[in-house]
Amino acid sequence: MAEDRKIPNHVAIILDGNGRWAKAHNKPRNFGHAEGCKAVEQTVEDAARIGIKYLTVYGFSTENWKRSQEEVGALMKLFRYYAKRLLKIAKANNVRVKMIGERSRFEEDLIVAINRLEDETKDNTGLTFVIAVNYGSRDEIVRGTKKMLTDYKNGKFALDEVDESFFESYLDTAGIPDPDLLIRTSGEQRLSNYLLWQLAYAEFYFTDIYWPDFNKQELDKAIDYYNNRERRFGGRLSN
Ligand code: IPE
Ligand code: IPE
Ligand code: MG
Repeated sequence: MAEDRKIPNHVAIILDGNGRWAKAHNKPRNFGHAEGCKAVEQTVEDAARIGIKYLTVYGFSTENWKRSQEEVGALMKLFRYYAKRLLKIAKANNVRVKMIGERSRFEEDLIVAINRLEDETKDNTGLTFVIAVNYGSRDEIVRGTKKMLTDYKNGKFALDEVDESFFESYLDTAGIPDPDLLIRTSGEQRLSNYLLWQLAYAEFYFTDIYWPDFNKQELDKAIDYYNNRERRFGGRLSN
């Protein structure tokens, strides 16, 4: 059956509520994170099948290092495990994987796994799955600006060349179109330092469900919401 609804080209997700989900089920927080990873995996497959072209999920923020050592350690363990699994899933589903965020803070083996994931899936033509790890929008903008200033100092461009698209080329998301729809679970309604530049014109969808309960039905609800919005860019309706 042909789709008669508009499918957003790029969906960005702030997956939130793993800890509260675990608490509600009398389980440790790390169990909630493990269930959350399963929901991410399922969402990648659903998004690819629906025909979404870009899916960006917030896996670990620059602020999340402030959590307990035990929780950060458990999250790193999960990343390691999923980096391996994701390589298989990406290959099976024609998914191209990309990481945004500052990866040098991770341990060497995890950096190797991330580089490998990107490298071995770079020619896939289906969904582009972007994972934001050790990502913070302000950090991304500062890193990008430093790089731009270094290039300027080295005479690589003239000041006149700097416009929005030039600036964008220094962000981690260079080459990735802006998100059309942002989803945040768990009832929180804030950006938590996520894609501040890129979300300038996205539609926002908030749901009270905790991330581990997110599934295809919930994704469909968000897409229905998106279909009922009249998108405007500076007062002009989009078509
Ligand atoms: C989101 O769930 C996952 C990460 C930020 C890594 P939380 O861990 O923030 O869960 P809550 O917000 O405490 O319920
Ligand atoms: C945002 O969730 C970060 C990720 C989803 C990785 P948090 O749960 O860390 O955000 P705050 O602290 O509640 O804003
Ligand atoms: Mg949270």
